[in-house]
Amino acid sequence: MFRQRDLIFTPMNSGKRHSHLVTDGPSRAPARAMMKAIGFTDEDLAKPLIGIANTWTEIGPCNHHLRAQFNTVSISDGISMGTEGMKTSLISREVIADSIELVARGNSLDGLVCLSACDKTNPGVMMALARLDLPGLALYGGSINHGQHNGKALTVQDVFEAVGAFNAGKIDAKEFHSIENAACPTVGACGGQFTANTMATIMEAIGISPAGLNGIPATAGEKNQAAFRCGELVMDLVRKNLKPSQIMTRPAFENAIASVAASGGSTNAVLHLLALAREANIPLKIDEFDAISVKTPTIATLKPGGLYTAVEMHQAGGISLLLRRLLEGGLLQGDCVTVTGRSLGDEVRAAPETPGQQVIRPTDKPFKPTGGLVIMHGNLAEEGGVLKLAGTAIKHFKGPARVFNCEEDAMAAVTAGKIKAGDVVVIRYEGPKGGPGMREMLGVTGALAGADMSETVALLTDGRFSGATRGFSIGHVAPEAFVGGLIAFVQEGDTIEIDVAARQLQVEIAPAELVKRKAGWKAPAPRYTRGVMAKYANTVSSASEGAVTS
Ligand code: FES
Repeated sequence: MFRQRDLIFTPMNSGKRHSHLVTDGPSRAPARAMMKAIGFTDEDLAKPLIGIANTWTEIGPCNHHLRAQFNTVSISDGISMGTEGMKTSLISREVIADSIELVARGNSLDGLVCLSACDKTNPGVMMALARLDLPGLALYGGSINHGQHNGKALTVQDVFEAVGAFNAGKIDAKEFHSIENAACPTVGACGGQFTANTMATIMEAIGISPAGLNGIPATAGEKNQAAFRCGELVMDLVRKNLKPSQIMTRPAFENAIASVAASGGSTNAVLHLLALAREANIPLKIDEFDAISVKTPTIATLKPGGLYTAVEMHQAGGISLLLRRLLEGGLLQGDCVTVTGRSLGDEVRAAPETPGQQVIRPTDKPFKPTGGLVIMHGNLAEEGGVLKLAGTAIKHFKGPARVFNCEEDAMAAVTAGKIKAGDVVVIRYEGPKGGPGMREMLGVTGALAGADMSETVALLTDGRFSGATRGFSIGHVAPEAFVGGLIAFVQEGDTIEIDVAARQLQVEIAPAELVKRKAGWKAPAPRYTRGVMAKYANTVSSASEGAVTS
C-alpha cells in the first residue's frame, strides 16, 4: 500500500525519470499541493507523469472529437484554404511541436501520448516526440466519413472542384449547394489520401503509432478502444524506456517514404518527413524520395489520384494491409521496432484482407508501376521541386508562362477564364519565407480541375499543394522567389518545359536577358514585420530542407 512518506523520502520510481524532480521529496510539497487541486492523489503522484498532447479545437471537423488533457493549436486547412489565413498553416506545425516541447519539458513529463488529426498536427506531434525523445506515441484521430451524392462518395476535394465546375457553368447553383451540403457528414480529418491520412499512414509505417489503429474512422466506436490501448502502451514504453530515437531510425524513414509512394500520398509528406528527419537527427535528402518512389509501385487506389476514400481503405484492410503487401513484395524493412515493442513485420505480416476488396493490390499487380512522388530539378528548381505523379498522366509539357505574384491573382485569372489549355501557370512569392508560410494552391488546382483543365494546364509554385490536389502541378520550387530563385525572373510568355522522365524543370531565358532582369530585381518588402509570421519568415529554411525553424 502507498504511504505518504514513500513519496517524500524514497528514491524515485523507476519510471519517473523526469517527474521525480517535480513530485518527490519535501521541497516539492507546494507542487504536489497544486497538483492535488486538479485531482491528483498521492498514489497518482507516485506514478510516472504522462502527458496527453492533444490538437483538439472546435474550429474544424478534423480535430473536433479529441478533447482531453493538455491542448495545442491547430489550423484546419480545408477552412483556411485560399485565404491569407492559410499562411499560418505550415507555421502552426512549428508552434505545435514547440508548444508540446514546452509543456513536456516544463512539467518534467515521463511519457507522452499525442492525439492529432489534421495536416500539420500529425507532423507537428511527431516532431515534438522526436525532439523530446521521451517514451511516447501518436494516435491519429481518424478520417471523416465520406458523403454521398448521386450514388458517389464525396470528400471535401469534390467541393473544391465543384467551385471550378460552377464557375465554368458545368453545374448549376442547386447542384453546387447539394455537393457542399453532402461532402462532410461527420467529424474527422479530410477523407482521401490527402495530407492528414498520408501522415497517418506514415505514423504507422515509421512505427510511432501502433499498427492498425490510425485508420479507424473518427466516429467508429473502436477509436475509443484504440485510445485506451495507447494508454496501456505508453506505460510499457516508459517502463522499457523505449524512445522515439530507437523507433524513428533511418530504415523506418525509408519505410515511411515507401508507404507514401505506394498509397499515392500527398506531396506534403516530402516537406514533413524532411522536417521530422531533422528533429530525429537522421540524414535525409529530398532526392531520396524519388529513388524510393521509382522502385515502389502504387498499390492502392485512393482519392485524389484514385477511386476510394480513407474509410473505404480501412474497410478493405487498411494501412496494415498496405504495409503487409509492401513487406510481401520486399519493399518494407520489417525488422524496425514500433511502439508496441514488436517489429513492424510482426505487426503487419498477418494483417487481414476483406474478401473481394478493390482498394489495395499486391505489389506484382499494382495500379501503377512506380510511386507517386517525383523530385524535379533544372534551372527553375536547383534545390528541387516536387511533382505528384499520382494525380496526372502527363509526362511532358511545354508552354508559355502565365505569371502571378500571389495565389489570389492566379485564382482570379482562372475564374475569369483567362487561363487557356497549354499555359504554364506560375505562382510565386508564396514560399516559406516569401508567403510567408508556403500556402497550398488547392483553390486554384481545384478550380482548374473543375473546369476540366487539370490535364491541359501545368502549374508550378514555390508554395505547396494540398493532398487533395490533382493535375500536373509542381510545388516546393526551391530556391523560392523571395530569396532570388530563378522563378522570380520568369516573365509572361517565357517558354517553360517540364520533362518528367529527365526530372527537368526549365525556363528558356537568354543569358544576357537574365542579367538584365536580375539587375533590376530587389526582394519585395516582407509582408509581415512583427509577430509570429515575421519570426517564422526570418528563421525558416528552404522547402528542400523541410521548411524548418530549428
Ligand atoms: Fe484538417 Fe483536411 S482540413 S484534415
